[in-house]
Amino acid sequence: MKFEQLYADRARCMKTSAVREFFKLTEQPDVMSFAGGFPSADFFPMDKVNEVLSALIAEEGRFALQYGATEGYGKLRGYIAEKMTKEGAPCTAEQILITNGSQQGMDLVSKLFVNTGDVVLVEEPGYVGGLGAIYNYEADRVPIPLDDDGIRTDLLAACLRKLKLENRLPKFIYLVPNFQNPTGVCMSLERRRELLALARQYNFLILEDNPYGELRYEGEAIPSIKSMDTEGRVIYLGSFSKTFSPGIRVGWLMAEPEIIAKLSSAKGSTDLCSNSLGQRLAYRFAASGYIEKHVASLLPRYQERRDLMLDCMEKYFPPGVKWTRPQGGFFIWVTFPHGMSAHEILLKAIEQKVAFVDGAGFFVNDNGRNTARFSFSEASPDKIRKGIAILGEILEAEMAVACKKEKTA
Ligand SMILES: Cc1ncc(COP(=O)(O)O)c(C=O)c1O
Repeated sequence: MKFEQLYADRARCMKTSAVREFFKLTEQPDVMSFAGGFPSADFFPMDKVNEVLSALIAEEGRFALQYGATEGYGKLRGYIAEKMTKEGAPCTAEQILITNGSQQGMDLVSKLFVNTGDVVLVEEPGYVGGLGAIYNYEADRVPIPLDDDGIRTDLLAACLRKLKLENRLPKFIYLVPNFQNPTGVCMSLERRRELLALARQYNFLILEDNPYGELRYEGEAIPSIKSMDTEGRVIYLGSFSKTFSPGIRVGWLMAEPEIIAKLSSAKGSTDLCSNSLGQRLAYRFAASGYIEKHVASLLPRYQERRDLMLDCMEKYFPPGVKWTRPQGGFFIWVTFPHGMSAHEILLKAIEQKVAFVDGAGFFVNDNGRNTARFSFSEASPDKIRKGIAILGEILEAEMAVACKKEKTA
């Protein structure tokens, strides 16, 4: 059967993510993969989960295996509201919607605010899942470049002036201010303030996605944009995926009650409710103070992997290759010399069972062909050492060929 003529117009925006397709290939156990942005399964607290799950089923199995409220499990909403308040963003449980991972928050916010052709501002490079969710609702995504201090607010201001003249002001901006995916950089406090001022001036919302903020290995934490928001202009997304487990699919969204009511209705028609078992498990872990302890135990382990990957890059990558030095999160962003194709390098690396993600998929307009994302969270220290050394050899060889070509040209 041919489906083409039956699809809705928006189906043309629904593209298979090259990144997600690629993960299938990296799942083989002997591959040295720096591709997935996954937490390390080695660090899941299996025994504790076993213990808490058994008690949960014995004590409240009738509810944990049942449908729940669309807005989320009441105790968990209350706990998150307290957590957000402690972190500087005062909030009540009515301002919290539990989502099926923070990914669902991006989808719901786009569903609520985006008409076909509406402008949504995004970071460039930006998180593939966010770019995709926004595009699925036929938004016109306008990319704003970032540097080591996060999104370039000077370029954002210039872009907004232009959009205003064209009568195309954005509905919202989507960004990951802490240990951004894919670059690992943090947005500076000054730029967070500038962004809020611009959002006020041009009247758009800010969708702040913060799944990595608690995974800081060094340096001072920077206040969230939400904590500086006095008008309800910021919609905040949080998640247990990186601090506990992505498999339970529990995230949250904080916004004004009026927005929560609309999003809840949108969510209801998508999935009725989030995973009752996962929410109750997350609540027991979080409310008992265990997640905090768990995160404290994750920090030195991820830091060790980050340090090792940075050291290996220093040791094995030839001059001319540049990379970021993230203070937290999972990602290092690598830039190869201009003219080199990250995709070509990836193909050669895969032949030797090493994988990373080439950067073009993180750009709206297919730029960034000489860039790549490396994740240090999942690979064992041995795989990091071996994989980066192999890549160093591939890069040396590629650069020698490029140099020869330049000389003969
Ligand atoms: C920036 C960013 N936001 C959101 C997500 C999705 O997280 P969740 O598992 O909470 O849906 C990810 C996952 O990699 C991510 O990197």
